[in-house]
Amino acid sequence: MKDFVYFAPTEVVFGRKSEEKVAALVKKYGGHKVLVHYGGGSAKRSGLLDKVLGLLKEGGIETVLLGGVVPNPRLSLVREGIEICRKEGVDFILSVGGGSVIDSAKAIAYGVVYEGDVWDLYIGKGECYKCLPMGCILTIPAAGSEMSSGTVITNEDGNLKRDYGNEYCRQKFAIMNPERTFTLPPYQTAAGVTDMMMHTMERYFSQDDDMTLTDEIAEALLRTMKDEVFKVLKDPSDYRARAQIMWGGALAHNDVTGCGTSSDWATHQLEHELSGMFDVTHGAGLAAIWPSWARYVYKDNVSRFVRFAVNVMGVPNDFTDPEGTALRGIAAMEQFFHAIGMPISLEEIVGRPVTDEEIDRMAYLCSNGGTATQGRFKVLKQEDMAAIYRMAR
Ligand code: NZQ
Ligand code: ZN
Repeated sequence: MKDFVYFAPTEVVFGRKSEEKVAALVKKYGGHKVLVHYGGGSAKRSGLLDKVLGLLKEGGIETVLLGGVVPNPRLSLVREGIEICRKEGVDFILSVGGGSVIDSAKAIAYGVVYEGDVWDLYIGKGECYKCLPMGCILTIPAAGSEMSSGTVITNEDGNLKRDYGNEYCRQKFAIMNPERTFTLPPYQTAAGVTDMMMHTMERYFSQDDDMTLTDEIAEALLRTMKDEVFKVLKDPSDYRARAQIMWGGALAHNDVTGCGTSSDWATHQLEHELSGMFDVTHGAGLAAIWPSWARYVYKDNVSRFVRFAVNVMGVPNDFTDPEGTALRGIAAMEQFFHAIGMPISLEEIVGRPVTDEEIDRMAYLCSNGGTATQGRFKVLKQEDMAAIYRMAR
């Protein structure tokens, strides 16, 4: 097992009516004047936003509002948020929404204290070792931003989607009420489950084979998500199943499934170029790419793919044909993605064939103009990235 540091300092408040604790939590973590950040309308429509504003007011906490965060959150709104926070003297940011809202809040939280241009952080031109404190009320289990150390922002100038992060942007608290996810459309539910499974798989597909406990945790998480998703697609108000998924999304990306491994992240990096260029839903983009990534790399550690096939996908182990077992596991995952309504090709997600020029552009950007590699399970160069996009076409 590799040496590791595990740091997951977020206070999780989970369950029915958990949002009612919001004012006490904001005060506990030092908030007096709060930027309430939210998305395109779901939090308003459900009444959650008004309820939260009422609770903060009752608690004597001042609020400033900034809505309009879109999926694949944009840099321009981050800049607006930074200005508002500075002008209004905001000392805490509360996100009401999903990964996009929380990521936008994290970028604002860095930007308020960072002296340079916040985008510099995302393109490796700067580092920031502090930010405003934040908390969130999660409405979609997916990105795991509620417990992660990352933020992903899209710069509309060039459609570049880039990530940044360190321990400072971890949420002080994350309120998770599974009832608040009953209104999620099936596509977002399925894309969310895909994303959290991929967060686990990016860590699971590692060349380090000496991490039994971490593997077992990862496999249990994957099997649970794989089963529970069908329950919520059938009955969106199934509290029990929604709760498993909500907690699974947080655990999938708070690093517990990565202790002692060297994680891969190539599928994520390939997907970021896809959602940068075509503005697709992140989880769906991962489903469109992963089967091709897997078929491209599995020979670098067949036994790990056999283990996945058998322990996660329930494929019978043909000891005379490990490669066949590995490939049947990949095919089973692909069928699972399709069964929950996810795309499994670029054409399916983009809605038209993706051109050679577009593929070459994505591979160019993903490899930083041919200067960077991606992934650790198999180290991918620019030409490997282009080959995987072509296989996924
Ligand atoms: O904007 P509203 O109206 O709220 O609608 C949202 C949005 O359209 C809707 N939604 C959210 N909660 C809802 C709801 N609709 C009905 N009922 C509810 N309760 O769902 C849509 C998607 O929301 P979004 O926040 O974009 O989803 P997600 O949590 O999947 O976040 C995606 C973003 O997170 C990034 C992705 O790249 C993407 O930009 N990621 C962030 C990570 C991190 N910070 O650690 C890691 C991930 O790998 C990922 O890259
Ligand atoms: Zn993800």
